[in-house]
Amino acid sequence: MISLQLEGRTVVVTGAGQGQGAAEARLLVEAGARVIATDLASEIPAGLAAVPPAAANALVYRPLDVADAEGWAKLAHWIQSQGWQVDGLVNNAGITQRSRLLDATVADLQRVYEVNVAGALLGIQALAPLMASGSAIVNVGSVAGLTAHYPVAYTASKWALRGLSQVAAMEMGPRGIRVNTVHPGFIETPMTASAKPEFKQATLAETPLGRTGSVEEVAGVVLFLLSPLSSYVTGAEIPVDGGQSGHGAAKSVSDAMRG
Ligand SMILES: NC(=O)c1ccc[n+]([C@@H]2O[C@H](COP(=O)([O-])OP(=O)(O)OC[C@H]3O[C@@H](n4cnc5c(N)ncnc54)[C@H](O)[C@@H]3O)[C@@H](O)[C@H]2O)c1
Repeated sequence: MISLQLEGRTVVVTGAGQGQGAAEARLLVEAGARVIATDLASEIPAGLAAVPPAAANALVYRPLDVADAEGWAKLAHWIQSQGWQVDGLVNNAGITQRSRLLDATVADLQRVYEVNVAGALLGIQALAPLMASGSAIVNVGSVAGLTAHYPVAYTASKWALRGLSQVAAMEMGPRGIRVNTVHPGFIETPMTASAKPEFKQATLAETPLGRTGSVEEVAGVVLFLLSPLSSYVTGAEIPVDGGQSGHGAAKSVSDAMRG
């Protein structure tokens, strides 16, 4: 039987209190990893408390605002004080911002950049010193970062994250640290639950698999990218989007010509 070889590895997941981050934490624990789950709340969030620890200390919760450099420094210090190294980092925390082109403010742009871009940069800067060769970083982008998704500040932040990821893959490669990106499409989480029904409907029309994705479907790809099974994969970007980003604008044409 093939194994993900994640047993005993220490993985930090940001924004792990709910949605995709909580699923990543849960699946990592199931795969035998030690998970340091982080999120904004001071106490362990309910969605995470439901994760059954497969072994004692398999899941540790630490509060962390990814936009706070000092918070990252404290986390790195705490990990070192436990005598642990970091084998994996999932920069999952992200916020959305739905203002459109002519309404978006500089403050909108700054807020999403602070979390979606600077958060990942600070995480890499704080934890790379604790990572040995064979470690892996996974950044969570979005189909927004592959397309002209309408909420401009969010979209610009996810395009920026792609640039950051590629620089990180190049810079970390010689140290044996891999950096890859997943680009989720419409995944059922509290984030998308707050979107208008029209958004879901229109996205489904552009999605060849014809359905939304689950948090486990993103987590599965994240676990693969953290695993030594993907040891020669770095600087890669994997859409986990039911085919939404792959067809350009061709799907509506194809659908119209089906007769
Ligand atoms: N759900 C989707 O359809 C979808 C699609 C594409 C990309 N994404 C991306 O996937 C990631 C996870 O999204 P989700 O749908 O699970 O979102 P979510 O809103 O359900 O969960 C995000 C988590 O991040 C945490 N968070 C927010 N700001 C933070 C900060 N400053 N520091 C630390 N934690 C913070 C929140 O508290 C929350 O627990 C995000 O980066 C998002 O942009 C989601």
